[in-house]
Amino acid sequence: MSVAARTGVTAEQPHADALVVFGFTGDLAAKKIFPALYAMVKKGHLTVPVIGVASSKLGIQEWKDRVRDSLLHEEHEGGIDDPAAFDRLIALLDYVSGDYNDAATFSALKAALKGAKRPAFYLAIPPSLFATVIESLGSSGLAQDGRVIVEKPFGRDLASACALNAAAQAVFPESSIFRIDHYLGKEAIMNILYFRFANSFLEPVWNRHHIASVQVTLAENFGVGARGTFYESAGCLRDVVENHLFQVIALLAMEPPAYQSFDAVHTAKASVLRAMLPLKPADLVRGQYIGYRDEKGVAPDSDVETFCALRLFIDSWRWAGVPWYVRAGKLLPGSVVEVQVQMHPPPQQLFDDSGPSGGRANYFRFRLQPAAGIALAARVKRPGKEFIGVQRELYLGEEEPSSMSTYERLLGDAMVGDDALFTDVDSVMAAWSVVEPVLNTHHPVVPYEPGSWGPAESDALIAKDGGWRDPQTDSATHHPHGVGGAE
Ligand code: BG6
Repeated sequence: MSVAARTGVTAEQPHADALVVFGFTGDLAAKKIFPALYAMVKKGHLTVPVIGVASSKLGIQEWKDRVRDSLLHEEHEGGIDDPAAFDRLIALLDYVSGDYNDAATFSALKAALKGAKRPAFYLAIPPSLFATVIESLGSSGLAQDGRVIVEKPFGRDLASACALNAAAQAVFPESSIFRIDHYLGKEAIMNILYFRFANSFLEPVWNRHHIASVQVTLAENFGVGARGTFYESAGCLRDVVENHLFQVIALLAMEPPAYQSFDAVHTAKASVLRAMLPLKPADLVRGQYIGYRDEKGVAPDSDVETFCALRLFIDSWRWAGVPWYVRAGKLLPGSVVEVQVQMHPPPQQLFDDSGPSGGRANYFRFRLQPAAGIALAARVKRPGKEFIGVQRELYLGEEEPSSMSTYERLLGDAMVGDDALFTDVDSVMAAWSVVEPVLNTHHPVVPYEPGSWGPAESDALIAKDGGWRDPQTDSATHHPHGVGGAE
């Protein structure tokens, strides 16, 4: 897609002249937003005032220290490697404290904005507060010519998503509402779109005639930590599946965009999500790691899932009958996000180890995290008299790691009014429609051991399609020079 298509119409999309971060003292701000702001300042991409808003009453030195501490935190590689940039960031910052339900907070914010005309309001706050803050932005007169950037989850079911959408559209025009799904800002996920439509060899095989099944894994080797209260209101399906992984599936399964614009990409993605059949309880396995109920903020009898596995079908011409298996969870054996697209075996059993009852057939593997890579597995003969082979991977690895974090990219895009990498309202609603039938009607959670791949029931779900492929084992075998053995 051309750069022009990606960046939209800049003349009509002026740069925001201030950034307001609601939830300034929260976890997300500390972990992702401050590092993103610092990186933007370092590159000269952020020169407008930034105003933090939160309920905690903090003195000037206290909030400045918070920003510094978060940048120096061990999770943020690089620390403060450019003290002058850090000073510039601090000089741009201001802080307003107050209750989000109190009109005085918005009057104080207005004063701190010092006449800025086109602020971008970023809501890094609990989802239950989105509508309250948006309505107050409207009633205080701050929303005019502004933009709002809303974190996920956008609603907690179809009805609440519709209500939130109505609240947002009552205050901001649709073109000024930016719904973040940070997975869309990841290089490896942007590359799915590029890889699919910048190459011609894929299209002839990218359909039900050649593809037998697809599996997507999002595994994390940590638990819910300090986010127990939030997690209790979400669970795995709402937290990462109906948004992050459905967006990945939409990019993999979409038809070519009908014309050269990200509008057409959004439309094509929404169409795939609309074609997904609504889930039935039998398509979903819910698990909960042993020990979750002892986490802070978690109910002692919680039925919230920390793992889920599902089987999806996309009822379209291209994908009819192809099962899409998805699993995600906390406290699994590793932290990895990967897609494997399994092709049909050759129709004839010419060799013992290939064909309908031979070894594993060709597959594509998209490694999305931690590193980015794409592999195509093919069988080749082993040296010797016998016609016996091995599966090898042609591997395209990341040449150089991205120098831009997802939040740096997405906040920067929202500031200039580029919505290419944001989710559009049709996709959001279509995704909720798919999961809606199982949000409340489902089997109880099945406990699983921390460090395992979740409950055994998830294996049964995919048994007829060869079982789950362990992303860690498979990916460890690629060769640094581009060709590796997979089994
Ligand atoms: C967030 C979820 O949206 O995505 C978290 O709320 C999850 O629970 C995170 O850990 C995963 O994102 P990433 O970029 O670390 O893969």
